[in-house]
Formats: sequence, structure tokens, C-alpha cells
Amino acid sequence: MDDDSLEIHWQRVWSKKDPDQVTWYQPDPAVSLELVERADLEPTAGVIDVGAGASLFVDRLLSSGFTDLTVLDVSSRAIGFVKERLGPAAESVTWLCEDITAWIPDRTFRFWHDRAVFHFLTDPVDRALYAAVLYEALEPGGFAAIGTFAPEGPDRCSGLSVVRHDAASLQAEFGPAFELVHEQRETHVSPGGIRQEFAWSLFRRT
Ligand SMILES: C[S@@+](CC[C@H](N)C(=O)[O-])C[C@H]1O[C@@H](n2cnc3c(N)ncnc32)[C@H](O)[C@@H]1O
Repeated sequence: MDDDSLEIHWQRVWSKKDPDQVTWYQPDPAVSLELVERADLEPTAGVIDVGAGASLFVDRLLSSGFTDLTVLDVSSRAIGFVKERLGPAAESVTWLCEDITAWIPDRTFRFWHDRAVFHFLTDPVDRALYAAVLYEALEPGGFAAIGTFAPEGPDRCSGLSVVRHDAASLQAEFGPAFELVHEQRETHVSPGGIRQEFAWSLFRRT
């Protein structure tokens, strides 16, 4: 999929369904917030949600007092949903409409969050580009929380093939500069009642 079709695909997805009707919708990003707790962040720590979609993660972090939040997605529609939902609070968030594999970060973050984005990278070149961006964007000692479909999870989502992962396959993708500090599984139940197995990994950048 080239860059244009990636954006067109996701703009179409986000124009067809309400944010609480997509299969990945979750009313409470509980595992993500648990991983933030594990990282023991200061409220001023820089946090980025990569491929954030219309996730409530940023809302919850704002409510918890985090002050340096960045939301990135290739779809301006997804970003628009979240901005509208947050109202005036959106002004304190940095919004980036970018393809993560082509993004050039101009700062570093303490915490990188990706739920259900990395698994869409079916081309090894794109996975290597993602790993390079992750390395550049994380400060030394910073954390990356990555949630993908697990090996026993779905092999497609949103009309696209995915590559399923666990902590070992992510470690192989990201390399020795990342140390695995925690892994766990989650069964996500979609709004339609479909069960999807996720694998979560928390890495620390050396
Ligand atoms: C399955 S949704 C997950 C959304 C959100 N992380 C969540 O858990 O609710 C995947 C999101 O990643 C975005 N996305 C897909 N590929 C991307 C890429 N290469 N760069 C940035 N965003 C991307 C899509 O627009 C979509 O919002």
C-alpha cells in the first residue's frame, strides 16, 4: 500500500463508522493505563499515542494530569473526532497527521504507546522504518508500550492483512537497544461481541 492509499483507506474507515462502532473500540483503555503506571512517569513526561485513532487514552491521561501529550494518526478524521470530543482541552495536546513510517520526530518522548497499529505493517521495510522512528523518538530510558494482535489473534482487521506478534517477535524487530520489561495478554471484545487476542509488550530503550 503506498502512502496515498494508506491515508485514503483510513480516512474512509473513519468516515464509515462512529468511533464507538469500530471493532477496536474500547470504552476503557485499562491495559494501556496499567503500562503507563508501570513506567512510573512524572506528569510532565512526554507521551505520544501513535496511530491513536479515536482512542480515549489521551482523554484519560489528560484527566490524570499529564501535560505533555502528542497524538499522531495518518487520518485527519480520526484526529478530528478526538479534538471535538476534548473541546477546549484539545488545545493542550500536540496533534500530528502523519504516517508513522515516514515521520521525522523533532523531539523525544518518555513514553510511546501503540495499540493496534504496528501489526498493520506487513512489509519488513516498513517495520524497520517504524523501529528506526521509535528509536529516534524515545529518550534513553524511555518506554514503548506496543499492543498487537497476538499469534492466536485475528489475521485481518479493517479489510487489511496484519502480522501478528508477541514480545519475542517485537524484540526481534526492534533490536537489542530495547529491553523487554513486561508482557501480558488481553482479550478485547469488540462492540459486536467478537473476541480478539492481543499481546502487549513494554520495552525500555537503553
Ligand atoms: C485499528 S486502529 C487503532 C486506533 C487506536 N490505537 C485504538 O486502539 O483505538 C489503527 C489506527 O492507526 C492509524 N494508522 C494506520 N496506519 C498508520 C500509519 N502508518 N501511521 C499512522 N497512523 C496509522 C489508523 O488511521 C487508525 O486510526
